Amino acid sequence: MKFISSLLIILSIVSICLSQTSSSVSSVSSSSSSSQECLPGYSGVNCTFNHNVTGYVPAYAHGGYVLFWGDFGETHDGLSVLIGGTTCSIFVAYFWMIKCYAGVLPENTFYNVTVTQNGITWFQDNYYRYQTNCVNGETLNGYCQCETGFTGELCDVESSPYINTISSSSIDGGHVIADGWFGQDPQIGTFSILIGNKKLRIVQIGSTRFSGVAPQGNGSQDITIYNSTNNQLLYTGINSFQYDSTLCYGDCFANGICNNGVCECFYPWTGPYCFEFNSCQCPQI
Ligand SMILES: *[C@@H]1O[C@H](CO)[C@@H](O)[C@H](O)[C@H]1NC(C)=O
Ligand SMILES: *[C@@H]1O[C@H](CO)[C@@H](O)[C@H](O)[C@H]1NC(C)=O
Ligand SMILES: *[C@@H]1O[C@H](CO)[C@@H](O)[C@H](O)[C@H]1NC(C)=O
Ligand SMILES: *[C@@H]1O[C@H](CO)[C@@H](O)[C@H](O)[C@H]1NC(C)=O
Ligand SMILES: *[C@@H]1O[C@H](CO)[C@@H](O)[C@H](O)[C@H]1NC(C)=O
Repeated sequence: MKFISSLLIILSIVSICLSQTSSSVSSVSSSSSSSQECLPGYSGVNCTFNHNVTGYVPAYAHGGYVLFWGDFGETHDGLSVLIGGTTCSIFVAYFWMIKCYAGVLPENTFYNVTVTQNGITWFQDNYYRYQTNCVNGETLNGYCQCETGFTGELCDVESSPYINTISSSSIDGGHVIADGWFGQDPQIGTFSILIGNKKLRIVQIGSTRFSGVAPQGNGSQDITIYNSTNNQLLYTGINSFQYDSTLCYGDCFANGICNNGVCECFYPWTGPYCFEFNSCQCPQI
């Protein structure tokens, strides 16, 4: 009994606190005569929620359901959606999504969108589109999202080669791997790739990755990609290659441990990269 009554006291305290919070919020809205006094995201005489649209799934060109994603709040008084000035009939509205039925809207054309509720209007020009002709990509929010290696409004233009990431090498050079875009069917001889002014030797190359052997060097160096047929410069990555003085060439060929750029070789291996076999020190068999 004692437990239940103290629980009831706690509950009533909580509800008093809650009602005080909500009355303080409503006093902000009722006393405010300008939008300045509303909480962020609210405006108008009554501090109404400012809804917005963040994305959509279009209908087919001959009509159908459209989904609009966004923040629409809990109240949808007088909700209307216009696409290109034509009513999209509301099917259902949630705080995160509005579903409406659109009539014929010819594809590949942009339409303005107006979403009105609670006396507030959200408008965006050239917003809605049912894009059907993306060549190497897919439609998202009316725009083509291109696959890697393609660009242009319809993803019909092949990108120039570029490097997104490339691994570092020791100051003595060594094996590196690069990710990016290197054309649809690149061959080892398609490009000349330079680190600083020295040539990187390509070992293997595909559309999105190549591996090769970096020359000796130090510090940060530019990477450049040339068309090896006509020597046209296709890409420059300013300071995008790093020589790391703590790395060892070939990682000591697994015959030693790289300690801050110096190979400490396992017996009987020797040499700067633990690649030489010290036969003199070999135990007699
Ligand atoms: C949409 O509204 C929400 C809530 O007011 C806000 O947090 C968000 O930043 C808005 N997004 C855009 C794109 O305006
Ligand atoms: C603000 O709220 C009052 C009282 O509910 C209502 O009469 C009035 O129409 C509202 N104004 C707007 C702009 O929504
Ligand atoms: C939106 O598009 C419709 C149809 O093209 C047009 O009549 C209307 O004026 C546009 N609204 C705005 C605000 O641009
Ligand atoms: C690093 O490169 C600079 C020129 O870029 C050169 O002067 C310097 O000697 C190099 N240092 C080493 C340790 O190789
Ligand atoms: C390189 O240049 C040749 C000759 O101009 C051209 O045919 C080829 O398409 C170019 N390759 C790349 C990858 O740009």
